[in-house]
Amino acid sequence: MSRFALFLALPLLFHVGCGAESGDEDVDPLAGIQIIGDDLSDIPLRGASAAQVARFKEGDRLFDFVFRERDGLGPLYIRASCAGCHEGAARGPGAVQKMVLVEADGVTPAADQAALPYGNTMRPYGVGGATTLVQPEDDLVLKLSQRLGPPVFGRGYMEAVDDAEIERVAAEQAARGDAIRGRINRVVFHSKKNADEAFHRFSEGDENLIGRFGFKARVATLDDFTADAYQGDMGITSPLRPSELPNPDGLTDDAKPGEDVDVETVNAVADYMRLLEIPKRAPADPRGEALFVEADCAACHVPSLRTRADYPIAQLADIDAPVYTDFLLHDLGPDLADGLIDESASSTSWRTAPLIGMRHSTSYLHDGRARTIEQAILLHDGPGSEAAGSVAAFRALPREEREALIDFVRSL
Ligand code: HEC
Ligand code: HEC
Repeated sequence: MSRFALFLALPLLFHVGCGAESGDEDVDPLAGIQIIGDDLSDIPLRGASAAQVARFKEGDRLFDFVFRERDGLGPLYIRASCAGCHEGAARGPGAVQKMVLVEADGVTPAADQAALPYGNTMRPYGVGGATTLVQPEDDLVLKLSQRLGPPVFGRGYMEAVDDAEIERVAAEQAARGDAIRGRINRVVFHSKKNADEAFHRFSEGDENLIGRFGFKARVATLDDFTADAYQGDMGITSPLRPSELPNPDGLTDDAKPGEDVDVETVNAVADYMRLLEIPKRAPADPRGEALFVEADCAACHVPSLRTRADYPIAQLADIDAPVYTDFLLHDLGPDLADGLIDESASSTSWRTAPLIGMRHSTSYLHDGRARTIEQAILLHDGPGSEAAGSVAAFRALPREEREALIDFVRSL
């Protein structure tokens, strides 16, 4: 991949976040939520109560809020709002650029990462003259990659899925005779503080949680992810992540002394994502769904998983959640590898992408390299890919049937 392409997304930084609040003076609880036809990316759960809609709107406003220096942005950051990378709760336009030293094979991370003392993430903007983190100039064997902000809609359904369901699917895959063999990413709860006891009682250092969020399933819950994104992408500290990340100037704070947002803010943003509906499906070619199963897409993109009976949002408790993922890590081979390790996820493994709201994406895979759904499917292939058999089955279909399958995926 061209390294120049990696930087294309950055100049869009200042284009986001204005306008989402324009309906706020209105007393109608649905004001400010754009309604275009009946196909929306950013709407609350069907049947949401007035209180849930109010909570949704509060979190949506915070999600779109563009932080300034005086709000605690930085010292280093990538974008100034969540919406900058998840516009309309959907994909992009913002992305995170990554760098890692790799062995000659271009896939295995090098044992010595001393040349990148501040980690793998580029943070191209700083406030108050702070030294930013970009690609080092030395002639290093660096592998560059990008992660395009994924959609965040339907994530409440994903958080609600019962652990036992994910364990069941992992066991079923382990018993298969073919290459498909997903693994759970067992992760640690990193937050210093539990955001909301109603959702879970994890506390800092708890291990063995099932990672669900992030392209490599590195985080277990939406509040932990929110605090992580505030800190890592925006330089916004919170009681869950009270420290600024290490940076070249050794800065431990920014223009706003101490923690930049409170627990309530983290909770409100997490609740907004929990309350986001799965976008409406489009009508699709009726043959597509059966072909999706026949080509083994459904082995990884599991159409439905049962949610916990005790999930605090009633609409999401004890239902079949149409998430089209197994939350498991799969080795898709060296072509998609990024050289990065997230908890127990290797360079070549990725969490099965949830096929949710596909009509709201214009590019696919973690870095957006696929411009069409067909390209995304073909790029699952490669030496050692667990999905090679499924791609072969797809290729073997007559063109009309391939199109019906693609049409079904696009309709989700
Ligand atoms: C600079 C771009 C950027 C910003 C700003 C950003 N994100 Fe993200 N977001 C990403 C990327 C890239 C990923 C995938 C991360 C990974 O693989 O670890 C992601 C993943 C997520 C996920 C997991 C989705 C899934 O299905 O795995 C959630 C939830 C999320 N972000 C919420 C937020 C919230 C809330 C904020 C603001 C506090 C925010 N993000 C700010 C780029 C961004
Ligand atoms: C072995 C498990 C596995 C199988 C089988 C599989 N996939 Fe995937 N799929 C994945 C993983 C993992 C990703 C994420 C890859 C990435 O982000 O780079 C993915 C990503 C995708 C995406 C991109 C989604 C997005 O939002 O970017 C589409 C579309 C997709 N798969 C469709 C299919 C179809 C159709 C089939 C059957 C022909 C299929 N997959 C078979 C594991 C699988």
